Amino acid sequence: MNLPGHLSVANGHLLLGGLDLNTLADTYGTPLYVTDEDRIISRFREYRDEIGSRYDRVKVLYAAKANGNIAIMRTLAREGAGADVFSSGELELALSAGMSPGDLLFNGSSKSPQDLALAVEKGVRISLDSTDELIQLEKVAAEAGTVVPVSFRINPALEVPTHPKIATGLATSKFGIPAARIGEAYREALGCEHVTPVGIHCHIGSQILDVVPFAREAGVLATVAGDLTDMGVRLEFVDVGGGLGIPYHHDTDRAPSIAEYAEAVVPPLREGFEQIGISPELYVEPGRSLVADSTVLLTRVHSVKKAHKTFVNVDAGFNLLIRPVMYDSYHEVMVVNRADEPPRDTCTITGPICETGDILAHDRELPAVVAGDLLAILDTGAYGFSMSSQYNSRPRCAEVLVKGGRAALMRRAETVGDLTATMVLPPWQA
Ligand code: LLP
Repeated sequence: MNLPGHLSVANGHLLLGGLDLNTLADTYGTPLYVTDEDRIISRFREYRDEIGSRYDRVKVLYAAKANGNIAIMRTLAREGAGADVFSSGELELALSAGMSPGDLLFNGSSKSPQDLALAVEKGVRISLDSTDELIQLEKVAAEAGTVVPVSFRINPALEVPTHPKIATGLATSKFGIPAARIGEAYREALGCEHVTPVGIHCHIGSQILDVVPFAREAGVLATVAGDLTDMGVRLEFVDVGGGLGIPYHHDTDRAPSIAEYAEAVVPPLREGFEQIGISPELYVEPGRSLVADSTVLLTRVHSVKKAHKTFVNVDAGFNLLIRPVMYDSYHEVMVVNRADEPPRDTCTITGPICETGDILAHDRELPAVVAGDLLAILDTGAYGFSMSSQYNSRPRCAEVLVKGGRAALMRRAETVGDLTATMVLPPWQA
C-alpha cells in the first residue's frame, strides 16, 4: 500500500513519525489516537505558501471541528493559523490555544443569543446565515455599544462530487443565503447601526477530490464581490471555506495537491478583485486536508470469528470513529505488528458496540490476524475523535502527539468515573 512519508515500516512494525506504533500502544493502551505534529505543520505551510505565492493577503483559518484537541490547535496557532469556529466551545478553545480574536470567524447556521454575545465580547467576526440573525446581532451589538464586522454565508447552489451529507452548498442545503436574496441581506446590513458588512463567506462541501467545483465557487464569489462593491459594501475579506479531500483509498484515489487547489481558486478571485479594484484578504478554511492523514487510530484485536465471513473484533467502535457508519467512509487498515506480511485473509473489522452496523472496515485483505494483534486505522485525524461519543458507556480513549522522536499524551483516556461525573440523582432518588 502507498504510504505517505510520515508512515513507514521497519522490522515488521508500522511507524508514525519514526516511532513504533506497537510500542506506543503498549505504553499508552488501546484504543489510542496517535498524531504526527510535523505532518500537520507541513500541510499548513503548504496552504500558506501555495496560496500566499498567488495572492499576498491570505489567512488560513483551520476548521476547528475537524479536530478540536487543544494541542493541535496550539500547533496551528504557533504557525500563525486562525480558525473557523462553529460554536462557543470552538471559539473559547481557539483563544485558549493562543489564536487571536481577529484571526477567528464565528460561523454557523443556528447560533444562540449567547453565541452572538460571546463573539461580540471577544471581538470575533461573525458569518451570518440569515437576516433574522442579523437583526438579533444588531440588538446584541447595540447593548454592547459596539459595531460588529460581519459576512454573510452565501449559498452558491453548486453540486459537488461528495457524500450528500457533506455537500453544504447545494441549493437545497440548510446553509447560506441564496444568491437571489444576497443583495437584500447586505442592503439590510448596510442600514444597521451596530453591524457592518465587510466580508463574504462560502463553503461548498467536504471531501471533494476535484478542483473544478472550487474554481466555480471562486467565479461565483468574484461576481458577488463585484455586485456588493457596486452596492457600497467595502469588502475586507472573501472566505472560500474548506473542502479539499484526501486520498482515503491510498492506491486508487487521486486527490488534488494543495498547489492544484490554489491554482484553481486563487487566479479567478485575484483577477476578479483586480477588475473590481479591491484587495480584500483571502480566507481559506481547511479542516480535513490539514489534519486527516496525520493520525492513526490504534485498536487491539479481541477475537477472530470465522462465520459467513471472517470478523475481526476490535476494541474501537463507532463510538470512536463514526465516519464509516455515518458516511460509508473508507479508511485503510494495517496490522501494525505484521506490517510486512502478505495478505492472507479477507477480514471485516467490527467494533464492540451493540449494533450490527458497528463495522469499521468491510472485506479487507489482511495478513493472518489473531487475538492480541494491533490494527491501525489510517487517516483518522479529521472528524475522528471530534465526532466521538460515549455510546454503550464506553469511556473515550487517549490521544498521543508525536514529534521529533518523542511522544506525549495530548488527552488522557476517560474513566468510568468520567462517565458518571456529570450525572446527578434527582432528589426523590437520593
Ligand atoms: N468551513 C465550513 C464552514 C465548514 O462547514 C467546514 C466543514 C469546513 C470549513 C472544513 O471543511 P473540510 O476542509 O474539513 O472539508 N464530518 C464530515 C465532514 C463535515 C464537514 C462539515 N463542514 C466527515 O467526517 O466527512
